[in-house]
Amino acid sequence: MPDFSRRLLPLLGHSGGSRDAMTCLYRCANACDHPAPNESANPYLGDVVNAEMSRRGVVRAGAVGAMVLGFGGSALAAAGPAAAAPAAHPGSGHGHGHHHPQPKAGKIGFKPVAPNTLDAFTIPEGYRSSVVIRWGDPVEPGAPKFDVDKQTAAAQSKQFGYNNDFVGVLPIPGRSDRALLVVNHEYTNEDLMFRGFTSQDALTVEQVEIAMAAHGLSVVEIEKVGRTGQWKPVKGRRLPFNRRITALDTEFKLTGPVAGSALVKTKADPSGRIVIGTLNNCAGGVTPWGTVLSGEENFNQYFIGGDGVSADAKAKLNRYGFVTATRYFSGSRKWDRAQDRFDLTLNPNEANRFGWIVEVDPFDPEGRPRKHTAMGRFKHEGANVIVAKSGHVVAYMGDDERFDYLYKFVSDKKYIDSKSPWARKHNLTLLESGTLYVAKVTGDSPAAEIDGTGKLPADGKFDGKGEWIKLVSGNRSFVPGMTAEEVLTFTRLAGDAVGATKMDRPEDVQPSLRTGKIYAAMTNNSNRGVGTNAKADEANPRNANKHGHIFEITETRGDHTGTTFTWELPIVCGDPASADTYFGGYDKAAVSPISCPDNVAFDSAGNLWISTDGNALGSNDGLFATPIEGKEKGHLRQFLTVPKGAETCGPFITGDDKSVFVAVQHPGEITGASVDKPASTWPDGDFAKPAVVVTWKADGGAIGS
Ligand code: FEO
Ligand code: CA
Ligand code: CA
Repeated sequence: MPDFSRRLLPLLGHSGGSRDAMTCLYRCANACDHPAPNESANPYLGDVVNAEMSRRGVVRAGAVGAMVLGFGGSALAAAGPAAAAPAAHPGSGHGHGHHHPQPKAGKIGFKPVAPNTLDAFTIPEGYRSSVVIRWGDPVEPGAPKFDVDKQTAAAQSKQFGYNNDFVGVLPIPGRSDRALLVVNHEYTNEDLMFRGFTSQDALTVEQVEIAMAAHGLSVVEIEKVGRTGQWKPVKGRRLPFNRRITALDTEFKLTGPVAGSALVKTKADPSGRIVIGTLNNCAGGVTPWGTVLSGEENFNQYFIGGDGVSADAKAKLNRYGFVTATRYFSGSRKWDRAQDRFDLTLNPNEANRFGWIVEVDPFDPEGRPRKHTAMGRFKHEGANVIVAKSGHVVAYMGDDERFDYLYKFVSDKKYIDSKSPWARKHNLTLLESGTLYVAKVTGDSPAAEIDGTGKLPADGKFDGKGEWIKLVSGNRSFVPGMTAEEVLTFTRLAGDAVGATKMDRPEDVQPSLRTGKIYAAMTNNSNRGVGTNAKADEANPRNANKHGHIFEITETRGDHTGTTFTWELPIVCGDPASADTYFGGYDKAAVSPISCPDNVAFDSAGNLWISTDGNALGSNDGLFATPIEGKEKGHLRQFLTVPKGAETCGPFITGDDKSVFVAVQHPGEITGASVDKPASTWPDGDFAKPAVVVTWKADGGAIGS
């Protein structure tokens, strides 16, 4: 019997990019070692270059929905969670209200930090940083003090979870010095969590449950420290908002067309409406009505038993990267040992209950978070919303897998811009019904000029046009042969059927509230142009794309509800000294090297902030900032680096621009590391702990200025 323990197989066949083998194993069960799940014959962009695009729907004149107040903006009159309609910025959390100073657009003034491989959190001169909260710190009242040797599932269920990713900071109405920090806990690494770990099989069921409890989200009330940009958790017994949401036992409500359908009914939930837990929550966004959206990403790795399902079910599982050839596999977490719903042979529909966008209302600590089926099911990186001029809410989303797609969702109902409780109640339903689109893009340069090296075509730009193809609207499917429920549950197959464009791993996708343009991080794609895989095209112009690029979308006439757009690549990442990089035409001698863009955010000046995952240039990961409009466009500088083995997640810039939060995810995640032999001792000098860090300017100025 072969040994399928996670411990023994991390190096077998590992062919991923720049990430350590241990990260590949734990985060996505070695997804890069498997063929990319998209085997559709969708034309790559070169086949359809300069194709005439059909116009669908009514294109209205649009504008940016910059109706939100900034952090520190006028306090809301309403008090208490029921009336809360926090002044949140959709997405990165900064506001564009007129209640705080607006730095001059595009002004960035810090001295960049140098690439490095230190086991340290490094920031520019003149800045300060501090750990806000780390793995094991108390969240819910009564949480026991963290002890790595005496950990229990009950303790972990009240403590800050593992591997923080998305970070959102939502002001508490009426309190300019208080906010709710909402954080995703994407995945666990048992090698680094349990002293003496040998294999997944050797874990006790209690330890499996600790891992389940270390997944999910945390809601933590934080307070400002003096007048600086520093924040710290509020201590005390009365912390009504503090909450852990876990994979172990938190109930979620399914909303939308798939709720109650046969596709999501199970023995334990014959209603098909209540799901236990959330999995692999990666990035996310903050809505204008003060909730958090969180993407369920590599949910496939949590299930075993794919070999025992029907042939039809196998085809669908395969498209989502589930293993169906064997019961166990390299990277299997074997959670079926604690809860048999993770055995697909016994519970084939349980898989369909994950892979959704989750909405958490942090101001409703007793409420069930919801999974919105109207927004489709794929490996959701996250979702960021903007309010279109029409009032409809538009969410932009990426499916993070090599050769997968970009999506957008347009709500049926309109946002009500009011702080009243009834308006908030209405806004909380906006993501429950709407229309889901997938992106198809074409380039404007001759295919022959896109040679896969990253060399710019003769017109000097990687750019072109795009179309949002309607997949489903309410209960009506626009994909032949698929019902609306099927389109929403097997959205990747729907994208295949309509010829969506295969992209280089779409990660975070976020609209700028200053310009209304949308920025998507294509993190990398080692398989582009390799073997029979799709070749480079103008939107993904490098074969074996190691360093990734930024994809900018401009909706036609600024209408976010429309169906056509233009696009360009403002940044093609890598070493600026290398000919295959592009930084908006800026002098590359002044630019910091950047590799594998993952999360994006904006400050209130509209500068684009980019965090990285898996620097293929040899440096630790970091956070970068660049103006994205005007003369300084492309002048990208590195703002910080994270410790050894870690990835930079978040980032989140508060609406007053005084603080930037990042999540330091998987510090010390290097093959061979353990609690006793840590590859990183950050942040406390003993063994590595994922943590959220806030950075501010010592003189009280705006971040990056
Ligand atoms: Fe969890 Fe797509 O990064
Ligand atoms: Ca071009
Ligand atoms: Ca990510």
